[in-house]
Amino acid sequence: MPSYDVVERDWNIKVNANECNMNLPPLVAERVMSRLSRVAFNRYPNEEENALAEQIARNFHVECDNICLGNGSSEIVEKLFYVFGGSTERKIVYPEPSFSMYRIYAKAADATGVPVALREDYTLDIEKFIQTVKASNAALAVICNPNNPTGGALTLAEIEYIAQNISCAFLVDEAYIEFYGQTASGLLKKYPHLIIARTFSKAYGLASCRVGYMLASKEITSMVKKAYMPYHMNVLSLVVADICYQMRQEFIPHIQMMISERKRMAEEYKKLNDVTVYPSETNFLLIHYKAAVELNKALMEAGIGVRSFGNAPGLENTLRISMGRREENDSVLKFIKAFVEGRA
Ligand SMILES: Cc1ncc(COP(=O)(O)O)c(C=O)c1O
Repeated sequence: MPSYDVVERDWNIKVNANECNMNLPPLVAERVMSRLSRVAFNRYPNEEENALAEQIARNFHVECDNICLGNGSSEIVEKLFYVFGGSTERKIVYPEPSFSMYRIYAKAADATGVPVALREDYTLDIEKFIQTVKASNAALAVICNPNNPTGGALTLAEIEYIAQNISCAFLVDEAYIEFYGQTASGLLKKYPHLIIARTFSKAYGLASCRVGYMLASKEITSMVKKAYMPYHMNVLSLVVADICYQMRQEFIPHIQMMISERKRMAEEYKKLNDVTVYPSETNFLLIHYKAAVELNKALMEAGIGVRSFGNAPGLENTLRISMGRREENDSVLKFIKAFVEGRA
């Protein structure tokens, strides 16, 4: 089995996991602490899961049965692969490069993963994707929008075009959607084979709690729920996510800050010789640099954690840099600039 390879240590600056580098807004933190003080630690989760699901359902104008919560969107995506996989005859189609776990979940689900290579500029050939889904008689098609780790996004019209032209289950992984704004959730009523996966880990800065959710038809949510163990989510995470969702307006300044930092840093990195910056609609930038391996080594020695992909297909000599706080971004840029100019 391949494993999810990410190098973790006590970094001075940690911009390797697309987290939010700011903790909860103070007003939210206060409400969270007060809610945690009322948790019945001795009880299994009860109505907490429903409370959060109801809130999410109301926001998207769907029924509670159309919502499924998970331990991060990871649990949801994994279970979807199990639901639609199960034998090597079951094909799961996804772009490559994209979220590296798709390949791993396909293997874990005993399914056959069918990667569709992105073009050299990391855009997706939509016709090729549709043709691959059809030709392989896929059980599940997956698009990560915006795409991790390349950063680019399909338009809503492009997502709808794919939904119109394929008939298998179609997962749109919207882990970074808050940084883009064009969610496909409005298409759910029209396309019952569409599935949207979302997470609290990125824009809401709740990576520690592991909470995600899925929007889909009742048929699909009930299949995923059957794959869960009893009481699969813990009350602590559920109540924290519930408060965060109630107070989601409080996160807008953080999200806007990450977007503006991404735009600012993209312009700065573009000024560096031999560095290519790919368009991004997320909270990270993917850059290409001919000596990315050496650069990554130097960054690590300086205690700066960025994401390097080794020799993953299509990602040779690239580094993914998450947007941290302004001063962190400036320090990372300063280091990379010095390295590129031969001063580090
Ligand atoms: C595209 C994508 N999907 C899903 C996830 C899983 O996120 P989580 O399990 O924290 O919700 C990630 C995390 O990096 C991601 O990048």
